[in-house]
Amino acid sequence: MGNEKAAIYHDFFAEKEDLPFFRRLMLRLGGPVLDLGCGTGAIAIDLAGAGLDVVAIDNSSYMLEVARSKWEKLVPSVKERIEFVEEDMRDFPYPRQFASAIAARGSFAYLLSTADQLDCLANLRKLLATGGKILLDLFPPSLDLLRGGTDFERSVAADGETTLVRITYTRCDLNRQRCRSTITYQQYKGGILVEQVLAESVTSLLFPRETLLLLRQSGFTVEEVFGDTTGGSFNGDSRRLIVVAGKE
Ligand SMILES: C[S@@+](CC[C@H](N)C(=O)[O-])C[C@H]1O[C@@H](n2cnc3c(N)ncnc32)[C@H](O)[C@@H]1O
Repeated sequence: MGNEKAAIYHDFFAEKEDLPFFRRLMLRLGGPVLDLGCGTGAIAIDLAGAGLDVVAIDNSSYMLEVARSKWEKLVPSVKERIEFVEEDMRDFPYPRQFASAIAARGSFAYLLSTADQLDCLANLRKLLATGGKILLDLFPPSLDLLRGGTDFERSVAADGETTLVRITYTRCDLNRQRCRSTITYQQYKGGILVEQVLAESVTSLLFPRETLLLLRQSGFTVEEVFGDTTGGSFNGDSRRLIVVAGKE
């Protein structure tokens, strides 16, 4: 996320409903866990709260700033289980190996070329211990997504007087397999617009079979595929593609 305020708004709108699903799966896969593209740290903090050691990396200092401000408020026993690191998921050294890794809510799709995606998986292969597992969570192409368009979301903040609005406009380029989203965050107080913040993101459209091939090409065996965060199976209408793969 390219600016400080956008990272704060991003955190406000971040999904919470998927946390129990990821917690259950990652407790089964075991720690220490590497969280790739951790954003504002919701998943890392939740996993640490469940007893897992987590190293969470992101290449946005703004996202990490929000994550660290939440980390500051944690109880010491949870705090000591998380490390936030500013790194690029395509290539970074770490002096320890991990039992599992998670790239949740589409963070792997921020890698725009096949070369970048393969670099990330090769790096991950080095960082995972023998038998280590990766969980990739992606938003697969749907007709709605390919058509592009505008999503509108409104939230009322805790004080009741403040309303936050997120308007996302997405266009997809099917030939290049990329989507560009323009996000406008607006803050209203007593019905008056007091702040407007713009953010932009470009992500890859990763098709299901392509995702499985990337994993196989990188030395991972696909073990489980889910189509939503209740553990449902993947089908043509699925809104998520969640793959668990093991290092060969
Ligand atoms: C959808 S957002 C956050 C997703 C986050 N996993 C979550 O659960 O909320 C994707 C994140 O990936 C990060 N990111 C994008 N490219 C990256 C890269 N090459 N290395 C590390 N992080 C990256 C972005 O800064 C952003 O915070």
